[in-house]
Amino acid sequence: MKYTYIFLLFFCQNLLAQSIIPQPVELKSGTDFFTLTEKTTFGFNNEKAKKAANLFAEKITKSTGFRLKESKKANIQFLINDIENPVLGKEGYTIEVTKKNIFVHANQSEGLFYGLQTLYQIFPAEIEKNIENQTVSNQKWKIQSVQIKDYPRFAWRGLMLDCSRHFFKKEDVKRYLDLMARYKYNTFHWHLTDDEGWRIEIKSLPKLTEIGACRVQRYGKFGNYEAPKEGEAATDCGFYTQEDIKEIVAYAAERHISVLPEIDVPGHSMAAIAAYPELACSKDPKTKVSPGQKFAEWYDGGKFKMLIDNTLNPSDPKVYDFLDKVFTEVAALFPHQYIHAGGDECYKGYWEQNADCQNLMKKEGLKDAHELQSFFTKKVEKIIESKGKKLIGWDEILEGGLAPNAAVMSWQGTKGGAEAAKQGHYVVMSPNDFTYIDLIQGDKLAEPDATSYKTVRLSKTYAYEPTDGVDAKYILGGQANLWTEKAPTMRHAEYLTFPRAWAVADIFWSPKESKNWDNFVERMEKQFERADLAGINYARSVYDVVLKPRLENDKLMVEMSTEINNLDIFYTINETEPDTYTTKYNTPVFLPEGNDVTLRVATYRNGKKIGKTINFPRENLVKRVKK
Ligand code: ACM
Repeated sequence: MKYTYIFLLFFCQNLLAQSIIPQPVELKSGTDFFTLTEKTTFGFNNEKAKKAANLFAEKITKSTGFRLKESKKANIQFLINDIENPVLGKEGYTIEVTKKNIFVHANQSEGLFYGLQTLYQIFPAEIEKNIENQTVSNQKWKIQSVQIKDYPRFAWRGLMLDCSRHFFKKEDVKRYLDLMARYKYNTFHWHLTDDEGWRIEIKSLPKLTEIGACRVQRYGKFGNYEAPKEGEAATDCGFYTQEDIKEIVAYAAERHISVLPEIDVPGHSMAAIAAYPELACSKDPKTKVSPGQKFAEWYDGGKFKMLIDNTLNPSDPKVYDFLDKVFTEVAALFPHQYIHAGGDECYKGYWEQNADCQNLMKKEGLKDAHELQSFFTKKVEKIIESKGKKLIGWDEILEGGLAPNAAVMSWQGTKGGAEAAKQGHYVVMSPNDFTYIDLIQGDKLAEPDATSYKTVRLSKTYAYEPTDGVDAKYILGGQANLWTEKAPTMRHAEYLTFPRAWAVADIFWSPKESKNWDNFVERMEKQFERADLAGINYARSVYDVVLKPRLENDKLMVEMSTEINNLDIFYTINETEPDTYTTKYNTPVFLPEGNDVTLRVATYRNGKKIGKTINFPRENLVKRVKK
């Protein structure tokens, strides 16, 4: 009897613990159930708590059809603590579900909002359905009793969306914010300017959007597009008016998300230069907004050459007047304490050939072009600080010397973050080899974008630990970044974002000690069910085979594995479809030579197909080995 009880308790605990993302700090499940009916009442104890309570009631109406009544002695209560609970801080909360009641407590409205997100996730998955205007189903709204105490590990939990390479309509941006809020993200990094489009209205510089927000229309593969032709009309336009921005900033704030604007300078500025060519060293009046053509050559070790000048001229006082105007308006629009001023991938070739830049370097005693970029960034920092804001930039701003108060966003791995922290600067960790969610998440032969320069599988993202090699005292938190060269729609942006952004949510919210891949996978699969019901897109690439070819005594050997435990791999090399009746993989396979030999691989769980069938031409595998 005793053992049955222990087993039951363990089983129940697992049920709830294995559904929530990000993983809560503490969760103790019981054996009772609270049942929500049309008679259930809801309440709150003050104005700060009212918002969460009303959001809850609205959501319940949408998904159950019930119109819950408000009551002072309600069954479900959202409560701001009378006496602050120091453990919870601003964003923490507790949830108590008993047979009769649900109590959500927090010190602040942020905490109640996050408590609400968790509460939704312990409701049956059907809460994700929007049944408005449909008949109410026979769904039983049973919630297992539980006690949860939860608060974040890091204060900065972000996602970045690049709206330059592809423009996302206001409604799409709002949807992205909605998705972020579900997983307790609190920082939306909005990449608003780049070579392929300037997307923010600056009233004192109207050409930035009249010219800089439009490019010629192209179809096919971004990055390979034909350059604009002489006299060709730029009809592919999109930017956010200042009214749009205010609306989005307010929409985000409603969800306790703060918006970090990025104006990427001095590199990545082709759209600004198309509008105001005098800002670049080359002053080429023919500069056009890039539609996504190739304009750089990349060499080993991350070195590159810009074939078109996309860099502001750091020796020209007009550039700083321009930036003063831009940052004045940006600072007024965004309440975030930081403004992101870019600084990445700044090509120095045009500076090196420019007499004014060379004279400035001599005058200021700058020994190389990195120090010239540092000179530029320090001036930009002063401008940004004069608007009451702080500067954050990509880790290249370390080269040539950091600006005195700058924070650093570490993207070229973690070394930039480590170095900045060593120098006593705050850092936000977004290392591309773990948290760049534009990179493909499965095999090149099975993902929509076969031209991506790198692969970051979900298990790699999940393995990331922000404090490895970086002084934790200076880590504000971290984020995942979605560059959108290959993401023209929000639907595909979602595919790239999830499930990796679930892993990133765990990394920056949940305790380090709770990290456990198998447990994450179980919770992820629960989220898959919810995402299906809610119409959220996500990638299932984590179910696909991971294939490693190698040469052994000149023979092509192929090792196969899966990111997830307990999947079976079946394969064929005879032009037939792999299934559970074909060969099951258990040891590296020799792939014989022959005309058009193709290895076909599929993954199964408990006899049911779960991953994609991937066809690997032998030649493709040989190329991988020889690379
Ligand atoms: C970057 O990915 N260029 C910051």
